[in-house]
Amino acid sequence: MKKWFVLILLSFVTLMTVFAQSGEIEIFSWWTGGGEEAALLATIADFEQLYPNIKVINATVAGGAGTNAKAVLKTRMLGGNPPDTFQVHAGWELTDTYVIPGLMEPLTDYLKLWGAYDKFPSGLIDIVSYEGEVYSIPLTIHRSNVIFYNKKLFNEIGLTKEPETWQEFIAALDKAKASGYIPLAMGDKEKWEAGQIVENLMVAEFGAANYNALFNGELSFNDNRLDSALQKMVQLMNYVNVDHAALAWQEAARLLYDNKAVFNLMGDWAEGYFKELGWTPGEDFGWFELPGTQAVFVLISDTFGLPKNAPHRNNALIFLEYLASPRAQEIFNPIKGSIPGRVDANPGDDPYLIETAEDFRTLAISPSIVHGSAAPEAFVTSFNDAVNALVTTKNITQAKQMILWAAEDVGLLTD
Ligand code: GAL
Repeated sequence: MKKWFVLILLSFVTLMTVFAQSGEIEIFSWWTGGGEEAALLATIADFEQLYPNIKVINATVAGGAGTNAKAVLKTRMLGGNPPDTFQVHAGWELTDTYVIPGLMEPLTDYLKLWGAYDKFPSGLIDIVSYEGEVYSIPLTIHRSNVIFYNKKLFNEIGLTKEPETWQEFIAALDKAKASGYIPLAMGDKEKWEAGQIVENLMVAEFGAANYNALFNGELSFNDNRLDSALQKMVQLMNYVNVDHAALAWQEAARLLYDNKAVFNLMGDWAEGYFKELGWTPGEDFGWFELPGTQAVFVLISDTFGLPKNAPHRNNALIFLEYLASPRAQEIFNPIKGSIPGRVDANPGDDPYLIETAEDFRTLAISPSIVHGSAAPEAFVTSFNDAVNALVTTKNITQAKQMILWAAEDVGLLTD
């Protein structure tokens, strides 16, 4: 072959590659807050270094757990104006809201092409799949049944051992109260934060298998263990900060950092937040599972999918391939307080993350309600409303009735 021909051919291929890796990509999420934004920005910066010709548009709508972002996203998706890729929870939030209505492209073949299909736990692949096709790439594995605590205050009030039972936990809260500290920091401005405590209390009361059975139609919600969980939530309200309804989750977590509160039950994005504030895990703050949930990993997974008619589809695929790589997963997760979805990615050397990675491998998994994995969106909204009413009125019968109606509405068992 003539030299000049090879040269032209090579230039053409280079040009095509550059062309294929240029333009824009719009990434949609709600990661604007402490710890969360830092993880996203670090990942985007790395992506931009790898693909300098692709301009990333970081589209965010503030509000923990997607309180506001989800509505904006839905409007855009239904209005035919999708972003190129977006944050969506594994489970019902992905399948019921976007896949079943036909708004997403399957990614199974791409995952296989990228050599990543068998790099995720099969249970995780199952909950991002519908009728045999994978519809999103799991980036994070978060855990929600964790109680973080301020180590300095913990020691100061004379606690020597992390509570393992409900009685021990209540005794520890009493000690904190007697010492003049806020025992349990709570910020339920966006409702889901209180709902998250109740879902964890449900896991403690029912156990993983029965809790999971509530959502696969094997066990009725009309069960005394639901009353007990609600009862315990009412009990916890004796220990929370009075301004809880005015605070977002970061503001509540910050009460620990400011040496005002001892405990905070929060998903482990709080671990990322504490680190961003400058705390060292294991030294400044400790953690333990909500008593009764030690054998369970309450799972939240943030994933990214490909909407049909993504304006920059090719760039979206380049980004998704990047997100599926150990490189991206190892940058994002340690900052965020989560562990990688990929089994071969390193969770980092932080003691919380190492322990969490081990727990994820060995414990029973239960899906979160309030983060959209366990049940359809309609149930999540009503569940959060029921818990919000409970927190205000302390009326257990009414809250239970609201949850039963919500379950009935989406076809779950109530008798
Ligand atoms: C969850 C999400 C986490 C974190 C949290 C608080 O729904 O999965 O990644 O962002 O909300 O905003």
